[in-house]
Amino acid sequence: MIKKNIPVITIDGPSGTGKGTISRLVAQELGFHFLDSGALYRLLGLAARHHSIPLDDEAALVTLAGHLDIQFTFDSEHQKTDIFLEGERVTDVVRSELSGKDASIVAILPAVRQALMNRQHAFLEPPGLVADGRDMGTVIFPGAELKIFLTASLNERARRRYKQLKGKGNDVTLEDLQVVLSARDARDKQREVAPLLPADDAVQIDTTELDIDAVFIRVMSLWNNCSMKFKESRVV
Ligand code: DC
Repeated sequence: MIKKNIPVITIDGPSGTGKGTISRLVAQELGFHFLDSGALYRLLGLAARHHSIPLDDEAALVTLAGHLDIQFTFDSEHQKTDIFLEGERVTDVVRSELSGKDASIVAILPAVRQALMNRQHAFLEPPGLVADGRDMGTVIFPGAELKIFLTASLNERARRRYKQLKGKGNDVTLEDLQVVLSARDARDKQREVAPLLPADDAVQIDTTELDIDAVFIRVMSLWNNCSMKFKESRVV
């Protein structure tokens, strides 16, 4: 059951579009809660590896999803969220390419998506929520006040990811990242349940030529327009 009268902004799109960064900035600016739905799929994949559960064992993954012991804590000193799985800090490993691939494999399974739905809805608390993912606007929060769908060319997305991973000392090539990203896009777009696609009422923003500041300003201006309507609609 989705709680009414709490504003939601959904920000969907493929990896490397700046979705995570923009969602965090918007949530911070508005003092809203933040849902990184991809982290839930990543954590489920990681937990499956820890417990030696095959990534296609739907029944076992559903049970695991129901008992997933996870914690998100904000580290104000470094201005980032730390993620814990079963008490162990997994902040870095959960962001790896392997975790992304595992997440996208478990995310194909309909019962797994269903099992993670309540956890995602639980993030909806006053004063509002910014939800980052693939199906936030289409399936999880279809009534969201503002739906954004970010895109960017494959080359640009791979370039951004390359810079990020190189910055952390990883040994990667641009070509490998293009292959990895396009395989993940294909899996996310072609699955039968909740595929990666914009909601009919989503505003699409191509970020290929835009920096983070420009996208942030655009999203905030869209929100300012629609938050007035939201407030008006609540006046009885
Ligand atoms: O946003 P991300 O890169 O952390 O997501 C990792 C994978 O998780 C993504 O490739 C597909 C899956 N995912 C999903 O199916 N639905 C979501 N709402 C978020 C992520």
